[in-house]
Amino acid sequence: MKTEMSATDALLTRRSVRNFLNEPVSEEEPKAILRAGMFAPSAHNRRTWEFITVTKRAVLNELSVMSRYWGMLKEAPLCIVTCGYSLGILPKDEEFLVQNSAAATENMLLMAHSLGLGAVWLGICRERPYYESVKELLKIPADVRVVSLMAVGRPKGELPERAKPLERFEAQKWHRECY
Ligand SMILES: Cc1cc2nc3c(=O)[nH]c(=O)nc-3n(C[C@H](O)[C@H](O)[C@H](O)COP(=O)(O)O)c2cc1C
Repeated sequence: MKTEMSATDALLTRRSVRNFLNEPVSEEEPKAILRAGMFAPSAHNRRTWEFITVTKRAVLNELSVMSRYWGMLKEAPLCIVTCGYSLGILPKDEEFLVQNSAAATENMLLMAHSLGLGAVWLGICRERPYYESVKELLKIPADVRVVSLMAVGRPKGELPERAKPLERFEAQKWHRECY
């Protein structure tokens, strides 16, 4: 496993990687990535996330064709599916489970990058027809929500020019005291 980089370097140089070498990830890498996810902040520290790692080629291939934005799963050796469950107490629990799992997803992207791997967040919404197909394929219980998928692997080639790190700070997005 590669040496980790500083938090600042990781978050300022991370970019979505969509091309992967035909190489598996190591035994330790998925655990290191999931561990970073589990260190994310969560409402009331309830950690309402659950993660599925998919490495079987046949299953990755099935996922790769469910959405036209997931084609890179045909090459990626690993897909991490981040789910979340509602505490079922208050209406806000449903929103918090999404926010908790999104925070975990970003932590995992940063850890993957820090380990020298490439990764991309793959969005999924309950309104999409393939939402239920993902749940069925991965045997996800009815009351557990899928929040994100992530393709992970060893980056192939250079990032496209448009994806190269550029300054992204936009002063007009900074509102002082009120909007
Ligand atoms: C909620 C969400 C859903 C996304 N879904 C996809 C997707 O389905 N396929 C994909 O290739 N990238 C997806 N991305 C990655 C974005 O396209 C990417 O983060 C954005 O273009 C900025 O590029 P960067 O990650 O290199 O900074 C998603 C990102 C987020 C946060």
